[in-house]
Formats: sequence, C-alpha cells, structure tokens
Amino acid sequence: MTSPLISVKDLTLRFKTDEGLVTAVNNVSFDIAPGEILGLVGESGSGKSVTAKALMMLNAENSVYDDASRITLRLDDEEIDVLSLRRPKDMMVVRGGAISMIFQEPMASFAPAISIGDQMIEQLMIHSDMTKVQAKEVSIEMLTRVGIPEPAQRFSQYAFEFSGGMRQRAMIAMALSTKPRLLIADEPTTALDVTIQAQVIELMKDLVDEFHMSILFITHDLGVIAQTADRVAVMYLGNLVETGTVRQVINSPAHPYTRGLLNSLPKLDDLEAPLTPVPGDIPSPLDRPGGCVFHTRCQESGNLAEKCKTQIPQYSTDSANHHVACHLATEVDQA
Ligand SMILES: Nc1ncnc2c1ncn2[C@@H]1O[C@H](COP(=O)(O)OP(=O)(O)O)[C@@H](O)[C@H]1O
Ligand code: SF4
Ligand SMILES: [Mg+2]
Repeated sequence: MTSPLISVKDLTLRFKTDEGLVTAVNNVSFDIAPGEILGLVGESGSGKSVTAKALMMLNAENSVYDDASRITLRLDDEEIDVLSLRRPKDMMVVRGGAISMIFQEPMASFAPAISIGDQMIEQLMIHSDMTKVQAKEVSIEMLTRVGIPEPAQRFSQYAFEFSGGMRQRAMIAMALSTKPRLLIADEPTTALDVTIQAQVIELMKDLVDEFHMSILFITHDLGVIAQTADRVAVMYLGNLVETGTVRQVINSPAHPYTRGLLNSLPKLDDLEAPLTPVPGDIPSPLDRPGGCVFHTRCQESGNLAEKCKTQIPQYSTDSANHHVACHLATEVDQA
C-alpha cells in the first residue's frame, strides 16, 4: 500500500474569542492517498474550512492547536510536519507549492487591480525557477486547458471582466499551474448554476487524472460528493462522525447524521416530495453537547439515549475503511 500524501492525526483546533474558547475542530483524523479525491461534507459551521486551512497553516491568529495535533505531508524525498512550520519560506511549500486551494468566491483569489495573467506569472515565479517568458507560456496553456476561449487575450484581462464560471476556471488554472500534489477545493461550485457546476466538476476530475494529484473536495452537498469523490468524511460540529468510500457512505450510511443528510436530498424520482432537512439547529460551538456531539438532534438513539448523552462514542469499523462514531454501531459490533 502506498503511504498517504497527507495524514491528519488528532487535529483539535480552538479559537480564542471574547466569549471564550470556541472548539472548531475536535480530534479529527484522516488520510488522503496520492490521486484520491476525499469529499468533506457537513452543514455550514461544522469546521470544514477551518480543517482545510489547517493543512496550509492559514487559520487566523486567534487559533490554538492542541499539542497532540499532527499534520504530515509526504513528498518524494521528505516528510513535512506542517504544524511545526514557522518560517515564511518553509510555509510556501504548503501555501501554493505542494498544496493549492480554490474557494467558493473566486474574486477572493484575485487581486482586483492586477491582470489575471500577471497574477498567474507571479504565482509561478514564486513556486518554480521559471523565467517570465516560460511562466507566461505555462499560464496561457493552463487557461486553455480549463476551457477559457481566446486565452491569450483573456490573459491580460482583470477578474471583473470574467463571468462567474470563467472566473472559477481561471482560479482553477492558477491553482493548478504550479502542479500541486493536493488541491483543496472549498465549496468551489456552490455559487455556480447547475450546468456550470457540472462542467467544473468534470474539469477537476480530468485534471486529477492528468496530473495525478489528490483533492480535498469540501461541500455541504452530499449529492455533489456522490459525483466527485472516492471517499467521504462527514463532519458535524467539529467532529468526523463517519468516513468511508462513497459507495459505503451513500449506500449504507452508518451514522444517523449521515442518514439525515441523505434524506434531505431531493429525490430524483419524486421531485415533488417535501425535503426533509435534519431537524433542529446545530448547537453553538461554545456550548458543545457532552457525550455524543449529535445527541441533541438524533432521532435514532431510542433506548440508548442516556448513554448517548453521557458517553462519547468511539470509532467502530464495520469494514477496514468504513468508520463511524455512534453507539448504535458499537452495540451491533458487540452483539
Ligand atoms: N477566526 C475565528 N475566530 C473564531 N471562530 C472562528 C474563526 N474562524 C472560524 N471560526 C468558527 O469555527 C467554526 C467552523 O467554521 P468553518 O470551518 O468556517 O465552518 P464550515 O466551513 O464547515 O462552514 C465556526 O463556528 C466558526 O464560527
Ligand atoms: S451515539 Fe447516540 S446520539 Fe449519537 S448518533 Fe449514535 S444513536 Fe445518535
Ligand atoms: Mg466553509
């Protein structure tokens, strides 16, 4: 078995705020293999973006990492302990070097007053030994690869001159031009209409095949994950509650929260049917429930309810790569 490209182990991350310490990520562990697309799914506020930013050391100044947290990036000739990086020069490896990130709002990735082309050239010259002429050539080639018409002309335009879908493509071109080993795509299709969303997903899949990179694909939509990812990690209030292959998680969801998310998807064979969102609100991260983090919304705890309120469920494994943190699963294991 090849070693994972990146391993996240016991990641716990809190933010100092005026109201106290907010736990945004709690004891999260996962690996991403070379060439693998891992989908990270969960409602808004569950800690997806904060987890992603941890991989690039991009969290705000008020973040506090628990001492046990480890993020290990394995490149050809070295292992990098990401959370111990301190010097800006060293951090470049995870910021635009081996790891690139694309965001929901592409305007955030582009400086408004610099042309798209100049930004692409700058990015390439920071992360490689290319000359300006070579960097321009590669940038135009990347704009072509992501399907931007007349790339040589588009190259000298500004972000505001691009439509939403084209801007998304330009952002992908810029993120991929440095040939990162891991692309983090944080809700990259949420703001796009359905047709363009499908095109962007296809494009990303093609590029993964071509460049053999890994992707951490973040979304609140399990439907998008089903089309895109190899494996899925489901996050709730800072905890990973279930991980497995797309087939395992979508066809046999083991966690009540995952089942709730799946039930809330529109049914293709009955578009008139009412959507059933997961009932109840996510508790405040300042006031995380004890026991199982999902117990305040779980409708399946039944006669385990008392245990769910007081005891934290451990990960059970119903197969080597399907993990779930729920007392229901553990009870079955023991039966
Ligand atoms: N700089 C910060 N200071 C305080 N809290 C923060 C900060 N950044 C994120 N958070 C909190 O961390 C939690 C997770 O946020 P986020 O990762 O953005 O969620 P998601 O991407 O799943 O919607 C939220 O409760 C959010 O308010
Ligand atoms: S541990 Fe209990 S409360 Fe938590 S998801 Fe499982 S059944 Fe529901
Ligand atoms: Mg987010």
